[in-house]
Amino acid sequence: MKIQALVLSIGIASLVFGAMQAGKSPAAKATADKPDKEVIQINQRFSQAKPEDYIGDAACVECHSTKSHSFNESAHFAFMSDPKLPLSQRGCEGCHGPGKAHQDNPDTEVISFGKLSPKDSAAACLRCHAQTMDKSSWKHTEHAKANLACVTCHQIHPDTDLALEDQALKKGRTVDPKSIAHLAKQPDKQLLLKADEITLCGQCHQSEVAQFRLSYHHPVLEGQLVCSDCHATHPSKAAQSKQSAFKSKCVTCHADKAGPFVYEHDPVAGFGGSGCEECHSPHGSQNPNMLVTRTRGLCAQCHSDKLATHHPGETCWSAGCHVAPHGSNSSNRFLSY
Ligand code: HEC
Ligand code: HEC
Ligand code: HEC
Ligand code: HEC
Ligand code: HEC
Ligand code: HEC
Ligand code: HEC
Ligand code: HEC
Ligand code: HEC
Repeated sequence: MKIQALVLSIGIASLVFGAMQAGKSPAAKATADKPDKEVIQINQRFSQAKPEDYIGDAACVECHSTKSHSFNESAHFAFMSDPKLPLSQRGCEGCHGPGKAHQDNPDTEVISFGKLSPKDSAAACLRCHAQTMDKSSWKHTEHAKANLACVTCHQIHPDTDLALEDQALKKGRTVDPKSIAHLAKQPDKQLLLKADEITLCGQCHQSEVAQFRLSYHHPVLEGQLVCSDCHATHPSKAAQSKQSAFKSKCVTCHADKAGPFVYEHDPVAGFGGSGCEECHSPHGSQNPNMLVTRTRGLCAQCHSDKLATHHPGETCWSAGCHVAPHGSNSSNRFLSY
C-alpha cells in the first residue's frame, strides 16, 4: 500500500515538475492546453512567491494545532511532507499558499477553500490533480458545470465542520442530510469523501437513491456496491460521451450476459438501441429482474409485429419460449441458452 502510494506520489510530483518546467518555456506554453483564468491566478500565488514567503508547517501549527493532527492522518501527508519537494508543493502551504503575510497578520488571507468560488477552489486542487481529472476534462463534467467544487465531495481535514461547506452544498441540495443520515456508514477515509456515497450523492440525487428502494434493485443500500462502481465521478474527456460515461459497464459484473453467443440478440450486443437499458432499469424497478416492464410489451417495444395472443397472461420469456433473451448458442429464436 505504502509503496504504491509512493510510486503514485512520485508520478504526480514529476508531472507537476514537468508542468512547471513547461510553463517556463513560451514555446511549450503555446502548445499546452490553454489554462483558465482561475488556474493562472491560483498558480501566480505560488509562482510569484519568494522562498522567504513560506514559513513551514511548524509555524502554521503553532496557531492551528488541530489542523496539523488532521492533516497528518490524511492521504496527503505522505506525499506533501517530503522535504525534497519544492516549497510550493510542501505541507500546509502546498495547498494554502505562502503564509508569511498571514503569520504577520492573520487577517491577511491564505488560500481559504471555503471562501473561494467553486472554480477557483477546483483550480487550487487541480494544480496537482490534473492527472486524475485528465487535464481540462473536469470543466466539461456535469458537476463542474453545476458549480460543484472538489471540496463539495471531498474533505481534506477530517475534523472540518461540514456546516462550513454548506455554501457549496446548498446549490444542489434537495434533501436534508439528516433525513438520510441513517443510511450513513463510515466514509472511505482514503478517498477523503465527506460521507458514504448514498448520503453524499443522495444530497442532490434523492430520486436516484429512491430507485434503490424499489422492490428489485441493485444492492447499493445494502452496501454491496456504490454509485461510483458504475459512474465515473472523474470521467476523462474521452469518457464524457453519453455511452462511455460509466466506470463499469453492466457486463463488467455480469459477464455471462455479454456473450459472444452464436446467436446474438441485437439490443444486448449493442448493435442497435442502448444495450441492457432497453430492458432493464439500471438502479431498480418494481418488476422482477429490474425489468422496465413485466408485460410482453417489453419485447413489443421492438417486435410489435410479432405480438401474439397465445399464452395469455404470460410473457414471451416467462411462458417458457424465449427463455434466453440475452442470446443463445443453440437457438436462433432464443428458445434455449
Ligand atoms: C500567528 C498565528 C497564526 C499563524 C502562524 C497561522 N495562522 Fe492561520 N489563522 C490565524 C487566525 C487567528 C485565523 C482566523 C482569522 C480570521 O478568522 O479572520 C487564521 C485563519 C486561517 C485560515 C482560515 C481563513 C479563513 O478565511 O477562514 C486558514 C486556511 C489558515 N489560517 C491557514 C494557515 C496556514 C496554512 C498557516 C501556515 C502557513 C497559518 N494559517 C498560520 C492565525 C495564524
Ligand atoms: C491538500 C490540501 C490541503 C493541505 C495540505 C492542508 N489543507 Fe487546510 N484546508 C484545505 C481545505 C480544502 C480546507 C477546507 C475544509 C476541508 O476540506 O477540510 C482547509 C481548511 C483549513 C483551515 C480553515 C478552517 C476551516 O475550517 O475553514 C485551516 C485553518 C487549515 N486548513 C489549516 C491547515 C494547516 C495548518 C495545514 C497543515 C498542517 C493544512 N491546512 C494543510 C486543504 C488543505
Ligand atoms: C501540492 C499538491 C496537491 C494539492 C494542492 C492537492 N493534492 Fe490531493 N493529493 C496529492 C497527491 C500527490 C496525492 C497522493 C497521495 C498518496 O500518495 O496517497 C493526493 C491524494 C488525494 C486524494 C486521495 C487519493 C487516494 O487515492 O487515496 C484525494 C481525494 C485528493 N488528493 C483530493 C484533493 C483535493 C480535493 C484537493 C484540493 C482541496 C487536493 N487534493 C489538493 C497532491 C495534492
Ligand atoms: C460528485 C462528487 C465528487 C466531486 C465533485 C469530486 N470528486 Fe473526487 N472522488 C469522488 C468519488 C466518489 C471518488 C471515489 C470513486 C472514484 O474514484 O470514482 C473520488 C476519488 C478521487 C480521487 C482518488 C481516485 C482517483 O480517481 O485518482 C482523487 C485524487 C479525487 N477524487 C480528486 C478530486 C478532485 C481534484 C476534484 C475536483 C476537480 C474532485 N475529486 C471532485 C467524488 C467526487
Ligand atoms: C451538490 C450536489 C451534487 C452532489 C453531492 C452530487 N451530484 Fe451528481 N449532479 C449534480 C447536478 C446539479 C448534476 C447536473 C444534472 C442534474 O441537474 O441532475 C449532476 C449530474 C450527475 C449525473 C449525470 C451526469 C451525466 O453526465 O449525465 C450523474 C451520473 C451524477 N450526477 C452522479 C453523482 C454521483 C455518483 C455522486 C456522488 C459521488 C454525485 N452525483 C454527487 C449535483 C450533485
Ligand atoms: C449498476 C450500475 C449503477 C449504479 C450502482 C448506479 N447507477 Fe446511476 N445510472 C446507471 C445507468 C446505466 C444510468 C443511465 C440511465 C439512462 O440513461 O437511462 C444511470 C443514470 C444516473 C443518473 C442520471 C439520470 C439522468 O436522468 O440522466 C444519475 C444522477 C445517477 N445515475 C445517479 C446515481 C447515484 C446517486 C447512484 C448511487 C446511489 C447511482 N446512480 C448508482 C447505472 C448505475
Ligand atoms: C459493479 C458491479 C455491477 C455492475 C457494473 C452492474 N451490476 Fe447488476 N448486479 C450486481 C450485483 C452485486 C447484483 C446482485 C446479485 C445478487 O443479488 O445475486 C446485481 C443484480 C442485477 C440484476 C438482477 C436483479 C434481480 O432482481 O435478480 C440485474 C437484472 C442486473 N444486475 C442488471 C444490471 C445492468 C442492466 C447493469 C448495467 C446498467 C448492471 N447490472 C451493472 C452488480 C453489478
Ligand atoms: C431484450 C431485453 C433484454 C435485454 C436487452 C437485456 N436483458 Fe437481461 N433480462 C431480460 C429478461 C426478460 C430477463 C428475465 C429472464 C428470466 O426471467 O428468465 C432478464 C434477466 C436478467 C438478469 C437476472 C437473471 C439472470 O439470468 O441472472 C440479469 C443479471 C440480466 N438480465 C442482465 C442483463 C445485462 C447485463 C444486459 C446487457 C448486457 C441485459 N440483461 C440485457 C431481458 C433483457
Ligand atoms: C430494443 C429493441 C428490441 C427489444 C426490446 C427486443 N428485441 Fe428481439 N430483436 C431485436 C432486433 C433488432 C433483432 C434482430 C433483427 C430482427 O430480426 O428483427 C431481434 C431479434 C430477435 C429474435 C430473433 C428472431 C428474429 O426475428 O430474427 C427473437 C426471437 C427476439 N428478438 C426475441 C425477443 C424477445 C423475447 C424480447 C423480449 C424479451 C425481445 N426480442 C426484445 C430488437 C429487440
